[in-house]
Amino acid sequence: MSSVTMTVNGKSVSADVEDRTLLVDFIRGNAGLTGTHVGCDTSQCGACLVLMDGRAVKSCTMLAAQADGAEVVTIEGVASGDQLHPVQAAFKDNHGLQCGFCTPGMIISAVDMINRCGPNLDEATIRHELDGNICRCTGYHNIVKAIKAAADEMSGTAAAAE
Ligand code: FES
Ligand code: FES
Repeated sequence: MSSVTMTVNGKSVSADVEDRTLLVDFIRGNAGLTGTHVGCDTSQCGACLVLMDGRAVKSCTMLAAQADGAEVVTIEGVASGDQLHPVQAAFKDNHGLQCGFCTPGMIISAVDMINRCGPNLDEATIRHELDGNICRCTGYHNIVKAIKAAADEMSGTAAAAE
C-alpha cells in the first residue's frame, strides 16, 4: 500500500491505495471525479487526460503514487465557477460534442496545447497535437474548429476581427 496525497482541482485528496493503483482510478474512485474517462487499454485514446503540474498526462498510464504531491486539474476543474473555460465554450458553440465521451480529454489536450504552443494555432498544428486523442464518433472537424475558435478567442484575434 502507498499513502498518496495530491491536490485535485484545488482540494487536497489523500488515500491509502494499492501500489498498482492508476492515477485515473484514484481520480475516479478516491477523488470521486468521474469526468475523466477510460476509453482504451492501450494508452492511445486520451480520454483520461488530466493536467498534472500544468502539463497534460494520460492518467491511465501512470500510477497514483507517481502523482503524490502533485497539483492535478481534471475536466471538473477547468471552468472558473459558472464561467466555462473558453475551450469548453468553443466546443459548445462549434458542435464539437457528439456522444461526449472523448470530450474531457479533448478539452484538456486543447488547454495544454494552447498553454504550450501559444494561442496562435493553425489547423495543421491542432491536428498534429491531437494525435494522442481518439474520438470514436470520428467528428474531428468540429473539434478542430472549436479549438481554433478558442485559440483565436484567447489570442484576441476573434475580438479584433469583429
Ligand atoms: S484511457 Fe488513457 S489513453 Fe485511453
Ligand atoms: S464525441 Fe463521441 S467519442 Fe468523441
